[in-house]
Amino acid sequence: MLLYLVLMNTKLSLFPVGSEINKSGHLVIGGCDTLDLAAEYGTPLYVFDELTLRRQCRQFKAEFGKLYPGTNVLYASKAFLNRAVASIIKEEGLGLDVVSAGELGIAASVNFPMNSVYFHGNNKSAGELKEALEHRIGRIVVDNFGELKLLAGLAEEAGCIQDILLRITPGVDPHTHRHITTGTTGSKFGFPLFAAGEAVAQAMAASGLNLVGIHSHIGSQITEAGPYIEEIRVVLGFAADMREEHGFEMEELNIGGGFGVQYTLDAPAPPISVFSEAIIPALMNRCRELDMPLPGLTIEPGRALIARAGVALYSVGVIKEVAGQKRYTCIDGGMADNIRPALYGARYEAVAAGKMDSDETMLTDIAGKFCESGDILITGIKLPPVSAGDILAVPVCGAYSLPLASNYNASLKPAIVMACGGKSRLIRRRETIGDLTRNDLL
Ligand code: LLP
Repeated sequence: MLLYLVLMNTKLSLFPVGSEINKSGHLVIGGCDTLDLAAEYGTPLYVFDELTLRRQCRQFKAEFGKLYPGTNVLYASKAFLNRAVASIIKEEGLGLDVVSAGELGIAASVNFPMNSVYFHGNNKSAGELKEALEHRIGRIVVDNFGELKLLAGLAEEAGCIQDILLRITPGVDPHTHRHITTGTTGSKFGFPLFAAGEAVAQAMAASGLNLVGIHSHIGSQITEAGPYIEEIRVVLGFAADMREEHGFEMEELNIGGGFGVQYTLDAPAPPISVFSEAIIPALMNRCRELDMPLPGLTIEPGRALIARAGVALYSVGVIKEVAGQKRYTCIDGGMADNIRPALYGARYEAVAAGKMDSDETMLTDIAGKFCESGDILITGIKLPPVSAGDILAVPVCGAYSLPLASNYNASLKPAIVMACGGKSRLIRRRETIGDLTRNDLL
Protein backbone atom coordinates (compact mmCIF):
# COMPACT_ATOMS: atom_id res chain seq x y z
CA MET A 1 0.00 0.00 0.00
CA LEU A 2 2.78 2.36 0.98
CA LEU A 3 4.63 1.51 -2.23
CA TYR A 4 1.44 2.22 -4.18
CA LEU A 5 1.06 5.64 -2.58
CA VAL A 6 4.68 6.50 -3.24
CA LEU A 7 4.36 5.48 -6.90
CA MET A 8 1.15 7.45 -7.32
CA ASN A 9 3.03 10.56 -6.31
CA THR A 10 5.88 9.94 -8.66
CA LYS A 11 6.40 10.38 -12.35
CA LEU A 12 5.18 6.81 -12.89
CA SER A 13 1.62 8.09 -12.50
CA LEU A 14 2.03 10.03 -15.77
CA PHE A 15 2.88 6.91 -17.76
CA PRO A 16 0.26 4.62 -19.33
CA VAL A 17 -2.10 2.71 -17.09
CA GLY A 18 -0.44 -0.38 -15.63
CA SER A 19 3.11 0.89 -16.14
CA GLU A 20 5.42 -0.52 -13.51
CA ILE A 21 8.97 -0.99 -12.38
CA ASN A 22 10.42 -4.49 -12.65
CA LYS A 23 12.92 -6.21 -10.38
CA SER A 24 15.83 -4.82 -12.40
CA GLY A 25 14.57 -1.28 -11.84
CA HIS A 26 13.43 -0.91 -15.45
CA LEU A 27 10.31 0.90 -16.63
CA VAL A 28 7.71 -1.51 -17.99
CA ILE A 29 4.95 -0.35 -20.37
CA GLY A 30 2.16 -2.62 -21.57
CA GLY A 31 4.02 -5.49 -19.91
CA CYS A 32 7.16 -4.78 -22.00
CA ASP A 33 10.53 -3.81 -20.52
CA THR A 34 11.30 -0.46 -22.17
CA LEU A 35 15.02 -1.28 -22.31
CA ASP A 36 14.21 -4.39 -24.34
CA LEU A 37 11.98 -2.31 -26.64
CA ALA A 38 14.78 0.22 -27.17
CA ALA A 39 17.24 -2.58 -27.90
CA GLU A 40 14.90 -4.34 -30.32
CA TYR A 41 13.54 -1.38 -32.28
CA GLY A 42 16.19 1.31 -31.69
CA THR A 43 15.63 4.88 -30.52
CA PRO A 44 14.04 7.38 -30.75
CA LEU A 45 11.07 5.10 -30.31
CA TYR A 46 7.44 5.94 -29.62
CA VAL A 47 5.65 3.28 -27.59
CA PHE A 48 1.85 3.25 -27.40
CA ASP A 49 0.05 1.30 -24.73
CA GLU A 50 -3.03 -0.21 -26.32
CA LEU A 51 -5.00 -0.63 -23.10
CA THR A 52 -4.62 3.02 -22.13
CA LEU A 53 -5.97 4.15 -25.48
CA ARG A 54 -8.89 1.73 -25.28
CA ARG A 55 -9.59 2.66 -21.68
CA GLN A 56 -9.75 6.36 -22.50
CA CYS A 57 -12.18 5.68 -25.37
CA ARG A 58 -14.42 3.68 -23.06
CA GLN A 59 -14.23 6.23 -20.25
CA PHE A 60 -15.27 9.11 -22.48
CA LYS A 61 -18.21 7.12 -23.80
CA ALA A 62 -19.21 5.99 -20.30
CA GLU A 63 -18.83 9.32 -18.48
CA PHE A 64 -20.78 11.35 -21.02
CA GLY A 65 -23.12 8.48 -21.96
CA LYS A 66 -24.35 7.89 -18.42
CA LEU A 67 -25.44 11.52 -18.08
CA TYR A 68 -26.51 12.03 -21.69
CA PRO A 69 -27.24 8.71 -23.38
CA GLY A 70 -26.19 8.50 -27.00
CA THR A 71 -23.41 11.10 -26.73
CA ASN A 72 -21.45 10.71 -29.93
CA VAL A 73 -17.69 10.58 -29.23
CA LEU A 74 -15.36 11.27 -32.14
CA TYR A 75 -11.61 10.84 -31.97
CA ALA A 76 -9.91 14.01 -33.25
CA SER A 77 -7.43 12.16 -35.41
CA LYS A 78 -5.05 15.11 -35.83
CA ALA A 79 -3.74 14.17 -32.36
CA PHE A 80 -2.19 11.07 -33.99
CA LEU A 81 -3.47 8.79 -36.70
CA ASN A 82 -2.05 5.80 -38.43
CA ARG A 83 -3.69 2.60 -39.59
CA ALA A 84 -3.27 0.73 -36.30
CA VAL A 85 -4.75 3.58 -34.26
CA ALA A 86 -7.60 4.01 -36.75
CA SER A 87 -8.40 0.31 -36.38
CA ILE A 88 -8.52 0.54 -32.59
CA ILE A 89 -10.78 3.58 -32.71
CA LYS A 90 -13.04 1.69 -35.11
CA GLU A 91 -13.12 -1.35 -32.80
CA GLU A 92 -13.99 0.89 -29.85
CA GLY A 93 -16.96 2.23 -31.80
CA LEU A 94 -15.97 5.89 -31.80
CA GLY A 95 -16.41 8.18 -34.77
CA LEU A 96 -13.54 10.11 -36.36
CA ASP A 97 -12.82 13.80 -36.89
CA VAL A 98 -10.60 14.32 -39.94
CA VAL A 99 -9.24 17.54 -41.39
CA SER A 100 -7.69 16.48 -44.67
CA ALA A 101 -7.90 14.06 -47.56
CA GLY A 102 -4.86 12.40 -45.92
CA GLU A 103 -6.64 11.62 -42.65
CA LEU A 104 -9.72 10.60 -44.62
CA GLY A 105 -7.55 8.28 -46.72
CA ILE A 106 -6.00 6.60 -43.67
CA ALA A 107 -9.50 6.04 -42.27
CA ALA A 108 -10.69 4.62 -45.59
CA SER A 109 -7.67 2.28 -45.70
CA VAL A 110 -8.99 0.41 -42.64
CA ASN A 111 -12.61 0.52 -43.83
CA PHE A 112 -13.59 2.96 -41.12
CA PRO A 113 -17.38 3.41 -41.22
CA MET A 114 -17.65 6.57 -43.27
CA ASN A 115 -21.00 7.57 -41.84
CA SER A 116 -19.27 8.27 -38.53
CA VAL A 117 -16.56 10.49 -40.03
CA TYR A 118 -16.74 14.28 -39.68
CA PHE A 119 -14.71 16.48 -42.00
CA HIS A 120 -13.30 19.69 -40.53
CA GLY A 121 -10.96 22.38 -41.83
CA ASN A 122 -10.92 26.07 -42.66
CA ASN A 123 -9.75 25.66 -46.26
CA LYS A 124 -10.99 22.40 -47.69
CA SER A 125 -10.25 22.10 -51.38
CA ALA A 126 -12.85 21.24 -54.02
CA GLY A 127 -11.02 17.92 -54.45
CA GLU A 128 -11.24 17.13 -50.75
CA LEU A 129 -14.93 18.02 -50.64
CA LYS A 130 -15.64 15.85 -53.68
CA GLU A 131 -13.83 12.96 -52.06
CA ALA A 132 -15.84 13.42 -48.89
CA LEU A 133 -19.08 13.38 -50.91
CA GLU A 134 -17.96 10.26 -52.78
CA HIS A 135 -17.21 8.51 -49.49
CA ARG A 136 -20.66 9.59 -48.26
CA ILE A 137 -19.14 10.72 -44.98
CA GLY A 138 -21.31 11.44 -41.97
CA ARG A 139 -20.93 15.22 -41.71
CA ILE A 140 -19.01 17.99 -43.35
CA VAL A 141 -18.41 20.80 -40.86
CA VAL A 142 -18.64 23.92 -42.98
CA ASP A 143 -16.29 26.68 -41.89
CA ASN A 144 -16.98 29.72 -44.09
CA PHE A 145 -19.12 31.23 -46.87
CA GLY A 146 -16.75 30.22 -49.67
CA GLU A 147 -16.92 26.58 -48.60
CA LEU A 148 -20.69 26.74 -48.15
CA LYS A 149 -21.15 27.92 -51.73
CA LEU A 150 -18.62 25.46 -53.14
CA LEU A 151 -20.08 22.49 -51.27
CA ALA A 152 -23.68 23.41 -52.14
CA GLY A 153 -22.69 23.40 -55.83
CA LEU A 154 -20.73 20.14 -55.61
CA ALA A 155 -23.52 18.34 -53.74
CA GLU A 156 -26.09 19.50 -56.24
CA GLU A 157 -23.86 18.39 -59.12
CA ALA A 158 -23.39 14.98 -57.49
CA GLY A 159 -27.12 14.70 -56.93
CA CYS A 160 -26.74 13.95 -53.22
CA ILE A 161 -27.90 15.51 -50.00
CA GLN A 162 -24.98 15.98 -47.61
CA ASP A 163 -25.51 16.37 -43.87
CA ILE A 164 -23.59 19.38 -42.59
CA LEU A 165 -22.87 21.30 -39.41
CA LEU A 166 -21.93 24.97 -39.42
CA ARG A 167 -18.88 25.89 -37.37
CA ILE A 168 -19.40 29.07 -35.43
CA THR A 169 -16.93 31.10 -33.41
CA PRO A 170 -18.64 31.70 -30.09
CA GLY A 171 -16.23 34.34 -28.78
CA VAL A 172 -15.20 32.32 -25.70
CA ASP A 173 -11.70 32.41 -24.20
CA PRO A 174 -10.65 28.93 -23.02
CA HIS A 175 -7.65 30.25 -21.03
CA THR A 176 -5.05 28.17 -22.84
CA HIS A 177 -2.00 28.93 -25.02
CA ARG A 178 -2.84 31.48 -27.72
CA HIS A 179 -1.65 29.13 -30.47
CA ILE A 180 -4.29 26.60 -29.48
CA THR A 181 -7.13 29.04 -28.82
CA THR A 182 -9.72 28.79 -31.58
CA GLY A 183 -13.08 30.02 -30.36
CA THR A 184 -12.30 33.68 -29.71
CA THR A 185 -13.62 36.44 -31.97
CA GLY A 186 -11.19 37.07 -34.84
CA SER A 187 -10.12 33.40 -35.08
CA LYS A 188 -9.45 32.01 -38.56
CA PHE A 189 -11.89 29.18 -37.77
CA GLY A 190 -15.64 29.29 -38.22
CA PHE A 191 -18.34 31.86 -38.88
CA PRO A 192 -18.17 34.79 -36.49
CA LEU A 193 -21.45 35.09 -34.59
CA PHE A 194 -22.50 38.26 -36.41
CA ALA A 195 -22.33 36.45 -39.78
CA ALA A 196 -23.57 33.03 -38.70
CA GLY A 197 -27.28 33.85 -39.12
CA GLU A 198 -26.71 34.49 -42.83
CA ALA A 199 -24.83 31.16 -43.04
CA VAL A 200 -27.81 29.34 -41.51
CA ALA A 201 -30.14 30.94 -44.04
CA GLN A 202 -27.90 30.02 -46.98
CA ALA A 203 -27.37 26.44 -45.74
CA MET A 204 -31.10 25.92 -45.27
CA ALA A 205 -31.77 27.20 -48.78
CA ALA A 206 -29.23 24.85 -50.46
CA SER A 207 -31.02 21.87 -51.97
CA GLY A 208 -27.95 19.58 -51.74
CA LEU A 209 -27.29 20.31 -48.07
CA ASN A 210 -29.07 19.22 -44.92
CA LEU A 211 -28.19 21.50 -42.01
CA VAL A 212 -28.24 19.15 -39.01
CA GLY A 213 -26.68 21.34 -36.39
CA ILE A 214 -23.99 23.62 -35.07
CA HIS A 215 -20.35 23.00 -34.25
CA SER A 216 -17.90 25.02 -32.19
CA HIS A 217 -14.47 24.26 -30.77
CA ILE A 218 -12.97 26.76 -28.36
CA GLY A 219 -9.39 25.50 -28.00
CA SER A 220 -7.13 22.76 -26.75
CA GLN A 221 -5.52 21.68 -23.46
CA ILE A 222 -8.39 23.26 -21.51
CA THR A 223 -8.23 22.44 -17.81
CA GLU A 224 -11.44 23.99 -16.50
CA ALA A 225 -15.09 23.38 -17.33
CA GLY A 226 -16.17 27.04 -17.21
CA PRO A 227 -15.32 27.89 -20.84
CA TYR A 228 -17.47 24.95 -22.09
CA ILE A 229 -20.43 26.21 -20.06
CA GLU A 230 -20.02 29.62 -21.63
CA GLU A 231 -19.70 28.02 -25.08
CA ILE A 232 -22.97 26.13 -24.54
CA ARG A 233 -24.74 29.26 -23.33
CA VAL A 234 -23.67 31.21 -26.43
CA VAL A 235 -24.23 28.46 -29.02
CA LEU A 236 -27.66 27.46 -27.72
CA GLY A 237 -28.64 31.13 -27.52
CA PHE A 238 -27.66 31.43 -31.17
CA ALA A 239 -29.63 28.31 -32.08
CA ALA A 240 -32.70 29.73 -30.34
CA ASP A 241 -32.35 32.95 -32.35
CA MET A 242 -32.10 30.90 -35.54
CA ARG A 243 -35.24 28.98 -34.66
CA GLU A 244 -37.03 32.28 -34.34
CA GLU A 245 -35.57 33.90 -37.44
CA HIS A 246 -35.36 30.96 -39.85
CA GLY A 247 -37.34 28.11 -38.31
CA PHE A 248 -34.07 26.18 -37.80
CA GLU A 249 -34.34 23.16 -35.50
CA MET A 250 -30.94 22.11 -34.15
CA GLU A 251 -30.79 18.30 -34.11
CA GLU A 252 -27.10 18.08 -33.23
CA LEU A 253 -24.77 20.13 -31.09
CA ASN A 254 -21.05 19.48 -31.49
CA ILE A 255 -19.00 21.22 -28.79
CA GLY A 256 -15.57 20.18 -30.14
CA GLY A 257 -12.71 18.75 -28.12
CA GLY A 258 -10.00 20.38 -26.05
CA PHE A 259 -10.14 18.44 -22.78
CA GLY A 260 -6.77 18.94 -21.09
CA VAL A 261 -4.39 16.30 -19.75
CA GLN A 262 -1.66 16.23 -17.12
CA TYR A 263 1.87 16.49 -18.55
CA THR A 264 3.87 17.28 -15.42
CA LEU A 265 3.49 16.50 -11.73
CA ASP A 266 2.97 20.16 -10.84
CA ALA A 267 0.11 20.77 -13.32
CA PRO A 268 -2.78 18.38 -12.73
CA ALA A 269 -5.74 18.23 -15.11
CA PRO A 270 -9.29 17.33 -14.08
CA PRO A 271 -10.68 13.85 -14.76
CA ILE A 272 -13.18 13.48 -17.61
CA SER A 273 -16.06 13.39 -15.12
CA VAL A 274 -15.38 16.99 -14.09
CA PHE A 275 -16.08 18.08 -17.67
CA SER A 276 -19.09 15.80 -18.24
CA GLU A 277 -20.66 16.71 -14.89
CA ALA A 278 -20.47 20.41 -15.72
CA ILE A 279 -21.28 20.25 -19.43
CA ILE A 280 -24.38 18.05 -19.36
CA PRO A 281 -26.35 19.96 -16.70
CA ALA A 282 -25.38 23.22 -18.43
CA LEU A 283 -26.72 21.87 -21.71
CA MET A 284 -29.96 20.58 -20.19
CA ASN A 285 -30.61 23.74 -18.19
CA ARG A 286 -29.96 26.01 -21.14
CA CYS A 287 -32.33 23.98 -23.33
CA ARG A 288 -35.00 24.24 -20.65
CA GLU A 289 -34.40 27.98 -20.34
CA LEU A 290 -34.78 28.44 -24.10
CA ASP A 291 -37.62 25.93 -24.41
CA MET A 292 -35.63 23.86 -26.90
CA PRO A 293 -35.72 20.09 -27.35
CA LEU A 294 -32.49 18.38 -26.26
CA PRO A 295 -30.16 18.02 -29.26
CA GLY A 296 -27.91 15.06 -29.98
CA LEU A 297 -24.48 15.79 -28.47
CA THR A 298 -21.15 15.22 -30.20
CA ILE A 299 -17.72 15.71 -28.61
CA GLU A 300 -14.32 15.46 -30.31
CA PRO A 301 -11.51 14.69 -27.86
CA GLY A 302 -8.09 14.06 -29.39
CA ARG A 303 -5.39 14.65 -26.80
CA ALA A 304 -7.42 13.29 -23.88
CA LEU A 305 -7.82 9.96 -25.67
CA ILE A 306 -4.27 9.33 -26.78
CA ALA A 307 -1.75 11.57 -25.00
CA ARG A 308 -1.12 9.35 -22.00
CA ALA A 309 -0.98 6.19 -24.10
CA GLY A 310 2.24 7.36 -25.80
CA VAL A 311 5.78 7.35 -24.39
CA ALA A 312 8.92 8.52 -26.18
CA LEU A 313 12.17 6.63 -25.61
CA TYR A 314 15.50 8.27 -26.37
CA SER A 315 19.13 7.25 -25.95
CA VAL A 316 21.48 9.53 -24.08
CA GLY A 317 24.60 10.57 -26.00
CA VAL A 318 26.79 13.45 -24.93
CA ILE A 319 26.58 15.03 -21.48
CA LYS A 320 27.89 18.53 -21.67
CA GLU A 321 28.80 20.83 -18.78
CA VAL A 322 28.85 24.49 -19.75
CA ALA A 323 30.76 27.08 -17.71
CA GLY A 324 30.40 24.95 -14.61
CA GLN A 325 26.75 25.94 -14.19
CA LYS A 326 24.70 24.34 -16.91
CA ARG A 327 24.45 20.67 -17.82
CA TYR A 328 22.97 19.39 -21.07
CA THR A 329 21.99 15.74 -21.38
CA CYS A 330 21.81 15.30 -25.14
CA ILE A 331 19.43 12.77 -26.68
CA ASP A 332 19.08 11.25 -30.14
CA GLY A 333 15.74 12.97 -30.85
CA GLY A 334 14.24 16.35 -29.99
CA MET A 335 12.32 18.98 -31.89
CA ALA A 336 12.04 16.95 -35.10
CA ASP A 337 9.91 14.35 -33.31
CA ASN A 338 8.44 16.65 -30.65
CA ILE A 339 8.27 20.35 -31.45
CA ARG A 340 5.76 21.12 -28.70
CA PRO A 341 8.29 22.59 -26.20
CA ALA A 342 9.68 24.92 -28.88
CA LEU A 343 6.28 25.81 -30.33
CA TYR A 344 4.12 26.17 -27.24
CA GLY A 345 6.57 26.17 -24.34
CA ALA A 346 5.12 22.75 -23.49
CA ARG A 347 6.63 21.07 -20.44
CA TYR A 348 7.30 17.37 -19.91
CA GLU A 349 8.74 15.04 -17.28
CA ALA A 350 11.31 12.33 -18.03
CA VAL A 351 12.78 9.33 -16.25
CA ALA A 352 15.85 7.18 -16.74
CA ALA A 353 14.07 4.02 -17.90
CA GLY A 354 16.77 1.66 -16.63
CA LYS A 355 17.31 3.40 -13.29
CA MET A 356 13.81 3.72 -11.92
CA ASP A 357 14.94 2.79 -8.41
CA SER A 358 17.82 5.31 -8.28
CA ASP A 359 17.62 8.72 -6.65
CA GLU A 360 17.18 11.66 -8.97
CA THR A 361 20.17 13.75 -7.95
CA MET A 362 21.38 15.20 -11.24
CA LEU A 363 19.93 18.53 -12.37
CA THR A 364 20.05 18.86 -16.15
CA ASP A 365 18.43 20.19 -19.27
CA ILE A 366 17.53 17.58 -21.86
CA ALA A 367 18.72 18.83 -25.22
CA GLY A 368 17.73 17.53 -28.63
CA LYS A 369 20.23 16.90 -31.41
CA PHE A 370 18.93 19.39 -33.94
CA CYS A 371 20.60 22.57 -35.14
CA GLU A 372 18.47 25.03 -33.20
CA SER A 373 19.28 26.56 -29.81
CA GLY A 374 15.57 26.23 -29.04
CA ASP A 375 15.77 22.45 -29.34
CA ILE A 376 15.56 21.83 -25.60
CA LEU A 377 13.04 19.13 -24.75
CA ILE A 378 13.03 19.74 -21.00
CA THR A 379 14.59 22.54 -18.97
CA GLY A 380 15.83 21.94 -15.43
CA ILE A 381 14.82 18.38 -14.59
CA LYS A 382 16.24 16.02 -11.98
CA LEU A 383 17.36 12.59 -13.16
CA PRO A 384 19.53 9.89 -11.66
CA PRO A 385 23.10 10.34 -12.91
CA VAL A 386 22.98 9.05 -16.50
CA SER A 387 25.63 8.51 -19.14
CA ALA A 388 25.90 7.65 -22.82
CA GLY A 389 23.71 4.72 -23.78
CA ASP A 390 21.16 5.16 -20.99
CA ILE A 391 17.52 5.33 -22.06
CA LEU A 392 15.28 8.25 -21.15
CA ALA A 393 11.50 7.84 -21.24
CA VAL A 394 9.20 10.84 -21.65
CA PRO A 395 5.55 10.27 -20.73
CA VAL A 396 2.39 11.83 -22.25
CA CYS A 397 3.84 11.99 -25.75
CA GLY A 398 0.95 10.32 -27.56
CA ALA A 399 -0.74 13.48 -28.86
CA TYR A 400 0.56 16.06 -31.34
CA SER A 401 4.20 14.94 -31.22
CA LEU A 402 4.39 12.56 -34.19
CA PRO A 403 1.79 14.41 -36.32
CA LEU A 404 3.91 17.57 -36.01
CA ALA A 405 7.17 15.69 -36.61
CA SER A 406 9.48 16.82 -39.40
CA ASN A 407 12.56 15.64 -41.21
CA TYR A 408 14.57 18.63 -40.02
CA ASN A 409 18.29 18.08 -40.55
CA ALA A 410 17.19 15.19 -42.79
CA SER A 411 16.44 13.20 -39.67
CA LEU A 412 14.52 9.95 -39.88
CA LYS A 413 11.09 9.86 -38.27
CA PRO A 414 11.00 7.38 -35.36
CA ALA A 415 9.62 3.89 -35.32
CA ILE A 416 6.36 3.38 -33.44
CA VAL A 417 5.34 0.27 -31.53
CA MET A 418 2.14 -0.80 -29.83
CA ALA A 419 2.58 -2.64 -26.52
CA CYS A 420 -0.02 -4.86 -24.93
CA GLY A 421 0.07 -7.77 -22.49
CA GLY A 422 3.85 -8.13 -22.63
CA LYS A 423 3.96 -8.17 -26.44
CA SER A 424 4.98 -5.42 -28.81
CA ARG A 425 4.36 -4.92 -32.51
CA LEU A 426 5.73 -2.39 -34.90
CA ILE A 427 2.93 -0.10 -36.11
CA ARG A 428 5.17 2.18 -38.16
CA ARG A 429 8.67 1.34 -39.26
CA ARG A 430 11.52 3.78 -38.74
CA GLU A 431 12.22 5.90 -41.78
CA THR A 432 15.30 5.15 -43.85
CA ILE A 433 17.60 7.28 -45.97
CA GLY A 434 15.70 5.75 -48.90
CA ASP A 435 12.52 7.39 -47.58
CA LEU A 436 14.33 10.75 -47.55
CA THR A 437 15.46 10.52 -51.15
CA ARG A 438 12.52 8.60 -52.63
CA ASN A 439 10.75 11.65 -54.04
CA ASP A 440 13.83 13.63 -55.08
CA LEU A 441 14.62 14.01 -58.78
CA LEU A 442 18.04 14.82 -60.17
N1 LLP B 1 -12.02 19.49 -32.81
C1 LLP B 1 -11.48 20.46 -33.54
C2 LLP B 1 -12.31 21.18 -34.50
C3 LLP B 1 -10.13 20.81 -33.35
O1 LLP B 1 -9.61 21.80 -34.06
C4 LLP B 1 -9.34 20.10 -32.42
C5 LLP B 1 -7.92 20.41 -32.23
C6 LLP B 1 -9.95 19.05 -31.71
C7 LLP B 1 -11.30 18.77 -31.92
C8 LLP B 1 -9.19 18.21 -30.72
O2 LLP B 1 -8.68 18.96 -29.68
P1 LLP B 1 -8.02 18.17 -28.42
O3 LLP B 1 -9.11 17.38 -27.74
O4 LLP B 1 -6.97 17.29 -28.95
O5 LLP B 1 -7.45 19.27 -27.58
N2 LLP B 1 -0.91 21.00 -31.76
C9 LLP B 1 -1.51 21.53 -30.56
C10 LLP B 1 -2.97 21.21 -30.47
C11 LLP B 1 -3.75 21.68 -31.70
C12 LLP B 1 -5.22 21.36 -31.59
C13 LLP B 1 -5.90 21.60 -32.88
N3 LLP B 1 -7.29 21.32 -32.87
C14 LLP B 1 -0.74 21.00 -29.35
O6 LLP B 1 0.21 20.25 -29.54
O7 LLP B 1 -1.05 21.33 -28.23
